[in-house]
Amino acid sequence: MPHVELFRITGGARLVGDVPVSGAKNSVLKLMAAALLAEGRTVLTHTPQILDVAIMGEVLRRLGCAVTIADGAITIDCPARPGSEADYDLVRRMRAAICVLGPLLARTGAAKVALPGGDAIGSRGLDMHIAGLTRLGAEVTSEHGFVMARGTSLHGATVWLDFPSVGATEQILMASVLAKGTTVIDNAAREPEIIDICTMLTSMGARIGGAGSSTIEVEGVEELEPVQHRPVADRIVAGTWAIGAVMTRGDVTVRGADWRHLEITLDKLVTAGAAVEPLLGSLGFRVAMEQRPRAIDMVTLPYPGFPTDLLPMAIALASVADGASMVTENVFDARFMFVNELTRLGADVRTDGHHAVIRGRERLSGAPVRATDIRAGAGLVLAALCADGVSEVSDVSHIDRGYPSFVDHLRGLGAEIARVDVPDPDFPLGF
Ligand code: UD1
Repeated sequence: MPHVELFRITGGARLVGDVPVSGAKNSVLKLMAAALLAEGRTVLTHTPQILDVAIMGEVLRRLGCAVTIADGAITIDCPARPGSEADYDLVRRMRAAICVLGPLLARTGAAKVALPGGDAIGSRGLDMHIAGLTRLGAEVTSEHGFVMARGTSLHGATVWLDFPSVGATEQILMASVLAKGTTVIDNAAREPEIIDICTMLTSMGARIGGAGSSTIEVEGVEELEPVQHRPVADRIVAGTWAIGAVMTRGDVTVRGADWRHLEITLDKLVTAGAAVEPLLGSLGFRVAMEQRPRAIDMVTLPYPGFPTDLLPMAIALASVADGASMVTENVFDARFMFVNELTRLGADVRTDGHHAVIRGRERLSGAPVRATDIRAGAGLVLAALCADGVSEVSDVSHIDRGYPSFVDHLRGLGAEIARVDVPDPDFPLGF
């Protein structure tokens, strides 16, 4: 009989101790795609050992790159003529693979990438990606489940984004660095991961101004050189540990992550009653909590607003806080899907459109629940830490996509959690 993995958690422990944070998933995947822009060896250091990195490695291999992932480093040898097609079997498993479209187009003049299915957090269109590449002179069509882009002479242009989309900003950046002339991306995303990719592209020889602001200007160059780069630390993983510390009335030192990338989040935790202090002399911060957290309202927005990727953890926090909280989601249309699972743990959450009202309970109660996406999975695990008795979180492959050594880190902080193998409950019972 086939088996599946789940996390078995016994609630009640406080999270106490140190936890290291490696490179950001959401940056590393795009930096891997950026390696396609230069012939030769790109090396990314301090990278997370997660499923999504392995999937992106496979995407690049099928495009003709030699990829080694070992000891926290990713080595990518990109050939003179990379391939141009990314298949559905990989893009389906990880939507971010769509980001190879821009660099492949820039490098080879043609790219064919399967349309992604996406996470279970909303519709997640590609219209801004396509409009941006079209402005740069590409011909973009969609047929038989693929997006196809062609254009051997991309040229600079001004691109206005309707929304500061992270993915569209990165896509247009990677297509424009080798285009002729000047590209301006207006209403660009300002996330630390955008600054990170601009930093790497600049060290590769690209000419980019305004990274981290709403207007990015790119002056196209003829050719780029491969480099070695250390990605920015994962602020979402760091924020998950911070919220976990507050929910469990713990004391956690998060090492390697920049607290300034989480300013609003940490400020909210202070409002909830936590003590937060940056580490002196090294990157990181400490979050300590002695009493039950107070209820706080949170509104997700593009950076520097409260990150949508921390929304499930924010709702989990509100579920055990003293009082009623309102959490508003402004980025993805179906982020509240996981709330049904959270209510199985006894949380009192009511949603209406993009608002959720949560009435905090002193304790939740252990139950079997299912992770519906990476962040929802992490939010459910944090909630299970505050639940009486045993909870089982299934579909943990979602969590493995984004959180390196999640179970080990939680155990290191004192949580009672184990990864267990159980017979697949969906396996037909012989009829
Ligand atoms: C990235 C992150 C994701 C994070 C999100 C917002 C990666 C791999 N993922 O996703 O974890 O939650 O940023 O911080 O980096 N949209 C369109 N048309 C487009 C592009 C986007 O309508 O062409 C919409 C999306 O459906 C969504 C919103 O814009 O509602 C924001 O999406 P975007 O910023 O592009 O997120 P991603 O890059 O997909």
